[in-house]
Amino acid sequence: MKRYLKYIKPYLYAFILGPIMMITEVVGEVLLPKFMADIINIGAANHDVGYIIAKGLLMVLTAFIMMLGGVGGAWFAAKASLSFGADLRMDIFKKIQQFSFANIDTFSTGSLVTRLTNDVTQVQNLIQMILRMALRAPGMLIGAIIMAFIMNRQLAMVLVVIMPLLLGCILLIMLNAFPRFGIMQKKLDALNNNVQEVLTNVRVIKSFVREGYEEERFAKSNRDLRQAAFNAIKIVILNMPVMMLFMNLTTLIVVWFGGNQIMGGSMQIGDLTAFITYITQALGSLMMVAMIFLNASRAMASFKRIGEVLDAHVDINDENAAHKDAKVQKGEIEFKNVTFRYYKNSEETVLDKINVTIKPGQTVGIIGSTGCGKTTFVSMIPRLYDVDEGEVLVDGINVKDYSLNNLRQGVGMVLQKNVLFSGTIMENLMWGDENATEEQIYAAAHDAQAHGFVTNFTEGYNTELGQGGVNVSGGQKQRLCIARALLKKPKILILDDSTSAVDTATEASIREAFATTLKDTTKLIIAQRITSVMEADQILVLDDGKIVGQGNHESLMENCEAYREIYDSQMREEVQA
Ligand SMILES: Nc1ncnc2c1ncn2[C@@H]1O[C@H](COP(=O)(O)OP(=O)(O)OP(=O)(O)O)[C@@H](O)[C@H]1O
Ligand SMILES: [Mg+2]
Repeated sequence: MKRYLKYIKPYLYAFILGPIMMITEVVGEVLLPKFMADIINIGAANHDVGYIIAKGLLMVLTAFIMMLGGVGGAWFAAKASLSFGADLRMDIFKKIQQFSFANIDTFSTGSLVTRLTNDVTQVQNLIQMILRMALRAPGMLIGAIIMAFIMNRQLAMVLVVIMPLLLGCILLIMLNAFPRFGIMQKKLDALNNNVQEVLTNVRVIKSFVREGYEEERFAKSNRDLRQAAFNAIKIVILNMPVMMLFMNLTTLIVVWFGGNQIMGGSMQIGDLTAFITYITQALGSLMMVAMIFLNASRAMASFKRIGEVLDAHVDINDENAAHKDAKVQKGEIEFKNVTFRYYKNSEETVLDKINVTIKPGQTVGIIGSTGCGKTTFVSMIPRLYDVDEGEVLVDGINVKDYSLNNLRQGVGMVLQKNVLFSGTIMENLMWGDENATEEQIYAAAHDAQAHGFVTNFTEGYNTELGQGGVNVSGGQKQRLCIARALLKKPKILILDDSTSAVDTATEASIREAFATTLKDTTKLIIAQRITSVMEADQILVLDDGKIVGQGNHESLMENCEAYREIYDSQMREEVQA
């Protein structure tokens, strides 16, 4: 709970003023029945119009002050809880931004979205409710009980019997409801996961005509959620009728005994009406306190889920980096005995004792069958994942000893799953360097063979891209992504299958541009086509997480069986085509 104090501090005044202003409502509601009783007992009984008017005016004034207090209290409560929620959301968002790829793998994106939105809202609602009710409900409960006892001690004994009974019922109801709300929240998670996945992949679903299947899947999550919610709510709806039953029974008892007292002359009629109001208020407040606890139990589940995100250990960080100020200068890379697995408790290694040295400015091709670990291999360099054993050195310094910022600034990577963002082409390219001049942007686009098609668009560099870059072709998208990485002017450039959708002629032009403008940059190029890497200074052949061949094209053709096989099969295909 301590961590949440920081969200209260800046709005402490609202957190204090909210409940305090609510007290005016309590005082008012406790006083009004008393005034009413006086009007009946004294004013009406004595036909004293002046008295009635005077008390009436007092009642209006009280009601007016109550209104001001009520509005003010609700205003501060809203301000406090909404600000709390907004700051909390910001911090969760910041935390998620620090998440490593491995962290994101463990939480699903859908669940992160629910935690950022729905769970924060639950917490926010609870706080708002507490601020409005925390003093009001207990205040009213105590005030009404005191007034009832002052008015008629004998009759007030009814409360002593009824209240524990009612409390017992409410507790029973709530204890049953608690776990059901926990289940409901989980079902909501599942539903959101489902929605998230479908919306992000709606194009794939359409192309596979899987709408029916997805609809059925959604219907199931939806049914589950409805059932879970109903299971929880059907318990809670008992609350109100049970409460009304108690209220009516109590009123009956009070009227019975009160009526007898009135007939006996020991009680006045006005007092009886006021008394009934106080009893109703007391039981009502008890109910309100119970509701706070009920909501609190729901919010506890959300607090827990938020805590899981905020407490998540970000496994890739630079807290212990020994060379925080170091920058990537030359672009030399060395893998020493690197072993890596995605599932830490499994035996299966994805990279197995890899040893490689890459000199500054070299062009390195990486080749191997799908799933052999090429993407994983290059992910070790900018620390998208951390090695399990061995070490990766850049310019002779362990990548773990750089600050993440400096390391990733020095390494430009075009991921296999390219994405562009909504915004203009210009804005997207400037991700690489927000201070880039127009000339630099054109030059980078030129090298990536993107300048031509961009200038052919009527809006040119100001063409708006749709979400994820939907309105450019696959090959165009890849070239824009390359241009974006080039603008970073990295010392190490990694292209993960980044020209797979680009025709061979254009790809050759990109390679030529690299050879002249990126002479000093170390270039790692993952490719499916051997022709893409044939001219590289060094080619790594990966198979099942191991390096099975290393050298230039000629030497590999001579010494590496696996390489020759790939070459032969691709040449055959070409001839057949
Ligand atoms: N995030 C991940 N979590 C768990 N396993 C993964 C993850 N990413 C990849 N793998 C597994 O690790 C192995 C190597 O994957 P990797 O992406 O490095 O292959 P690749 O050589 O790049 O393949 P491709 O040519 O198809 O891109 C595969 O068996 C894959 O199933
Ligand atoms: Mg890959």
